[in-house]
Amino acid sequence: MCGIIGYVGGKKAAPVLLKGLQRLEYRGYDSAGIAVVDGDTIRAVKTRGEVKVLCDKVEKNEPDGIIGIGHTRWATHGAPSDVNSHPHLSADGRFCVVHNGIIENFAELKEDLISHGLPFKSETDSEVIAQLIQYLYNGDMISTLCKVMDRLSGSYAAGILCADSPSTLYAIRKDNPLVIGLGQNENFIASDFAAALEHTHNFVQLNDYEIAQMTARAVTFFDRNGNKVEKTPYRVDWDISLAEKGGYPHFMLKEIYEQPKALHDTLSPRIKGDNIVLDKIEFSPANVNSINRINIVGCGSAYHAGIVGKHFIEKYCRINVSCELASEYIYSNPITDNRTLTIVISQSGETADSLAALRLAKKLGSHTIAIVNVLNSAIAREADDVLYTYAGPEIAVATTKGYTTQVAALFLVGLKIAKVKHIISDARYNELLKELALLPDKVSEILSDTDKIKRYAENYADRKCVFFIGRGTDYAASLEGALKLKEISYIHAEAYAAGELKHGTISLIEEGTITVALVTQQDLYAKMLSNIKAVQSRKGTVLALSSQSNVKVGEQSDGLITIPDCDDDVTPVLTAVILQLFAYYIASKRGCDIDKPRHLAKSVTVE
Ligand code: F6R
Repeated sequence: MCGIIGYVGGKKAAPVLLKGLQRLEYRGYDSAGIAVVDGDTIRAVKTRGEVKVLCDKVEKNEPDGIIGIGHTRWATHGAPSDVNSHPHLSADGRFCVVHNGIIENFAELKEDLISHGLPFKSETDSEVIAQLIQYLYNGDMISTLCKVMDRLSGSYAAGILCADSPSTLYAIRKDNPLVIGLGQNENFIASDFAAALEHTHNFVQLNDYEIAQMTARAVTFFDRNGNKVEKTPYRVDWDISLAEKGGYPHFMLKEIYEQPKALHDTLSPRIKGDNIVLDKIEFSPANVNSINRINIVGCGSAYHAGIVGKHFIEKYCRINVSCELASEYIYSNPITDNRTLTIVISQSGETADSLAALRLAKKLGSHTIAIVNVLNSAIAREADDVLYTYAGPEIAVATTKGYTTQVAALFLVGLKIAKVKHIISDARYNELLKELALLPDKVSEILSDTDKIKRYAENYADRKCVFFIGRGTDYAASLEGALKLKEISYIHAEAYAAGELKHGTISLIEEGTITVALVTQQDLYAKMLSNIKAVQSRKGTVLALSSQSNVKVGEQSDGLITIPDCDDDVTPVLTAVILQLFAYYIASKRGCDIDKPRHLAKSVTVE
């Protein structure tokens, strides 16, 4: 949930660290800090507040030095405050640590270290790492860090400075993301590529219980026993401009507009004529016919993408699909065995609950496929197979292109299985393939004229409550629409299966309540019209979303936004784009901090 960066090279470290932190701010933004080796001392500057507050503080008193570490925090242990901000120094000031993760045994360690005369300043779990290093230090950092890792339980990605080795940066990792960026006479550590991408495209992954020892010219890796480990670098071709706003007022809007490309990049390399090729995933008849259940697991929007996928896969593959919240799945004694295919969905590939779910599914004998956006992330590495969504870096906390590409990937998986099972007609299969290939253009069509969406959004920006209703896949899409609105605008929003409204929730409808009705499924038009009438009869206002050719819905609603005509089964991608814009314009009108909504972080690496 926090972002960490480290630099060793020939440049002044402070500006490099601050720039890196700005790129990592989506991971946490309640406090920030940097530490630089300045001569033979380590100087830390830290503050409560966003990175821009830190920049002001650093400007007044910039630490000098060419090696340092930085941190942007999303508080878990100890409220956001100057003293709880990272980096944390050991009592003697000789060691300094930035940490992402949670040290689960910090209370025992802290008590023990205090009993050995090491005073603590903060309420954080992270400070124990710095103190433990001081306590165990034997003059050799590698063997000290091996001992430190033996004593820590929980999760960590940590960058470490040691005043005794002022040209060396160290890193350790367990269960939290950390990449090592390899530059020209300079090297980096970072929670994610984006923070180092302007300096290098070459990266190495640090695995669990490994140590990196880095100078400007050399990087050496060790395992938990202090043995050297060889690693092969890989190249990340993401363009740095993708991690910049490029003229848009917010990353979220930029990422909404990147969806035609993201969808194209995710779909087109896999559609080869009338064949779907899902990278290295082998969907042989024997494999497919052995599947008697599919579990889709994810959190938040990834879970919502899974619900859309469930509808599609069940319809075309006739396999029982259950879609589970990862945080619930792990404690639910899941019905999962070697005939279950488990699909874990995660944009970041680092979400702790989803990773735990993946590990459990594997332990129960299930074959696992990860639908993931971030290359080489933990979920991508640990799953049996991986299907990447090629959305590019997603910086805004609220996912947009991450979600729509996940839905597109699930459509591909569903169609592939249906085809291998021979239970879809060739005609229908080809029709759907064509529809998928057209999705990027249809999204572009929506994005080419957003005035109406903006107008409605701005009219409703002062409301306290918005309902989203729909049936079937429209209900699945409503879930995502409601989440988008509440997380960035702080308006209470709720998605309801339209037919369920009358079983209780309709009592909340009154004058002024907005209900966004998704009416894209032809076989459900009539039923949806009755639901719309029921809302209007309680003086509620209905804004309908329907296809261009469905005129009746417009006549019977208080407002209408149309989506380009397309096959009913793939509409959730198009409605998602409209609902993202709707939420965006409402939040913008309300003056919300759209890219960094309160209390949220993008990559949720705690369970
Ligand atoms: C909502 C949102 C979150 C994420 C969720 C899972 O806009 O972004 O609900 O979808 O935290 O994250 P990933 O996909 O990285 O596992």
